[in-house]
Formats: sequence, structure tokens, C-alpha cells
Amino acid sequence: MGDAHRVGVVGLGVISRAYLDTLVGRPGVRVTAVADLDASRSAAAAAELPGARALTVEELLSSPEVDTVLNLTTPAAHAEIALGSIRHGKNVYGEKPLAVGLEDARAVLEAAAKAGTGVGCAPDTVLGTGVQTARAAVEAGSIGRPQFASAVMVTPGHERWHPHPDFYYTAGGGPLLDMGPYYLSSLVHLLGPVRAVTGAAGRLRAERVIGSGPRAGERIPVEVDSHVTGVLEHVSGTLTTLTTSFDGVATTAAPIEVHGESGTLSVPDPNRFDGEVRLHTLGDTRWRALATSAGYADGARGVGLLDFLTADERRAPRASGELALHVLEAMTALLRSAAEGRRIELTTSAEVPAPVPLTAAAQWHGRPD
Ligand SMILES: NC(=O)c1ccc[n+]([C@@H]2O[C@H](COP(=O)([O-])OP(=O)(O)OC[C@H]3O[C@@H](n4cnc5c(N)ncnc54)[C@H](O)[C@@H]3O)[C@@H](O)[C@H]2O)c1
Repeated sequence: MGDAHRVGVVGLGVISRAYLDTLVGRPGVRVTAVADLDASRSAAAAAELPGARALTVEELLSSPEVDTVLNLTTPAAHAEIALGSIRHGKNVYGEKPLAVGLEDARAVLEAAAKAGTGVGCAPDTVLGTGVQTARAAVEAGSIGRPQFASAVMVTPGHERWHPHPDFYYTAGGGPLLDMGPYYLSSLVHLLGPVRAVTGAAGRLRAERVIGSGPRAGERIPVEVDSHVTGVLEHVSGTLTTLTTSFDGVATTAAPIEVHGESGTLSVPDPNRFDGEVRLHTLGDTRWRALATSAGYADGARGVGLLDFLTADERRAPRASGELALHVLEAMTALLRSAAEGRRIELTTSAEVPAPVPLTAAAQWHGRPD
């Protein structure tokens, strides 16, 4: 383990458990440090991680024992932690969104380019077998030329289960910035980058009630729109109609459907790594499930970080900062379009990441499960 890649984790809340499950015990990676504003959280995490020290955030960012910072803080802190990591010459891979605002996100990528460090960003679920098998089917021509798509995310809101859901209802939260990255990243994999957007948005309630944990019953303010819809114009000419909502109860709509000249593809939940991809071709009388043909099998949070750490000059990181910046611009432009009542052209684009060949868990995980 002498030359294992050393990862320092900042932010030890709900999602950190899933990442640590993926990283701990994996050959070639070592979690050497953890930090959280709440020192009791970092102390508890370090106690369970042999070889990891609980540090302050500043100590972790400047530690010579950390090569890459894994940034699992809440959205409002994403840019600050990323910039701090880069300032100390470290790579940073973070949870989505890349930043709350576009200018902060641009500053992160510019600082990294100057410092010669790497930036990666979730979501990595889209590298799993669900979205990747769908992408392989589109690229194999199974629906003919794509014409249009729909993407639908409807939930009554995460305050039902998250013990401290405040961040979902402040800047950087809302259904689009929180869940949109899964859908928009998938759509870039499936249909390529976006050139312009038109949005509309609404807000059902001014307050939400926490449903679980020690603060159950507490009311929290809603500072962002909780229902955001819009149209994405892809560079390819394909149009996607998007709905993201914390204001509905349930839906039977496919998370994503891609309609082509000769078939329609039903894409599973992009917030999951797996799921059934279904195809209905012109002239068929029924849907049929496609065999899994691509993606990281049995994926789990953190596979995008492993993909980032193993990238080289032949293969760029798939969950890249560049893709996250483009997705963030599309999302913030949708919100701006909704507020201003006009269509907005984007200034960024992104390379479509390399497709993920079907990769068994033992291969990407480095250990038999
Ligand atoms: N909870 C989920 O199921 C889930 C799933 C996917 C992605 N995410 C994303 O992961 C991120 C974290 O979500 P979570 O649910 O774990 O949140 P959380 O509130 O449970 O945990 C965040 C942690 O970050 C710490 N933190 C905040 N600001 C900090 C700072 N400046 N320096 C150091 N520590 C700081 C907090 O003290 C907290 O312990 C968010 O971006 C969220 O969108 C969450």
C-alpha cells in the first residue's frame, strides 16, 4: 500500500457512509484523513477507519498525507472546499452540484487549470449499467436517429427522510439543482451537450416539515422554487422536456424516455446505478427488456472517484468537472429563464464522456464482493 492514492474526506454526513463503503479496503486507495465542521462526526468516522486521522478542515486541505480531497459537504460549501483543495495543490472530487452558482464553478475549474490539479464531480450513478446500457442501445442505432426525450423526477421532498434537509430548500437546493444533475448528466451521455434552454418554475409551499430524526416536526423555510420544468435544446437538435418537482406525490412516467425515428427507449432511474432498459420498436406490440451491455456492474457511490483516479492521457475522467460545469450552467440557465421569461443560450459545452464498457464489480472495485 506504499503508493496507494491517499484520499481525505471533508463532510461526514448521510452520504459519506456509501462512499466509505466503496473506498475502504479497496487496493490502491487509502482514506488517510477526515474532517467536518462538526468535529464529533469526523472523530466518529476516524474511530471506524484504521489509518485515518480526524483533522480540522484546514489541516486536511494542507495535509501532505492527502492527494485527493473527496468533498461531501452540503452544496453551499462545495466551491469553498474545492478552491481550498486546489490552493494546496490537491485534486478534488465532489458531490453535486459543482457549486451553487456558475461563477463559483467556473472559478474552481480555472483555479484547477492554473494549478494543474484535477476536478471531478458526481453523479457517478450514470456510469452504472442502467444509463450506460441505454446509451449503448442508442449508439447501436436501436431507435434510429433520436428525435426528442422526456425526463421526469417527481417526489414530495427529501424532508420526509433526511434528518437535516434544510439545504434542499436553500440556494443550491431545490429539485433541479439537487436531482437535475442525475438527469442532465444522463442526457449528455445519451444525446450530447445542450445549446439552449427555456424554463418555468413554481413553489407549492413556503415551509416544509422535517419528517425524521431529532428535529422531526420542525418547520423549515422554502427559499427556492420546488417545481422546475423546461426544455433543453441539445446541440444535436434533439429536444428534451424536463420536469423536476418536490411538489408532487408520485409518477408512473419513465425517469427518461428517448424517442427515435424507429423506436423508443425507456431509461431507468439515473439516481441508481442499475435498472431495466426497455425498448419498443416501430411495429412491435410490446416493450422488451434489453440485456445489460455496458457500465460499471453493481455500481456504488464512489465508482466515479475511482474512475477519476484511474484516468490517464488515453481516457479522461468520466465524472469530470467540465461535464459538471456544463450541467450546472444548463440548470442555472433554466432557473434564470424561468425568472426572466426568455430562452437562454449556454456558453459552455462538454465532451460526451467515454462510454463505460461492461465492467464487473471485482474489476472496478479491485476486491471480490
Ligand atoms: N443524502 C443523500 O442521499 C445524498 C445522495 C447523493 C448525493 N448527496 C449529496 O451529498 C452532499 C452531502 O449530502 P448529505 O446528505 O451527506 O448532507 P449532510 O448534511 O448529511 O452532511 C454534510 C456534512 O458536511 C458538513 N459540512 C458542511 N459544510 C462544511 C464545511 N464548510 N466544512 C466541513 N464540513 C462541512 C456538515 O457538517 C455535514 O456533516 C450534498 O451535495 C448532496 O446533494 C446526498
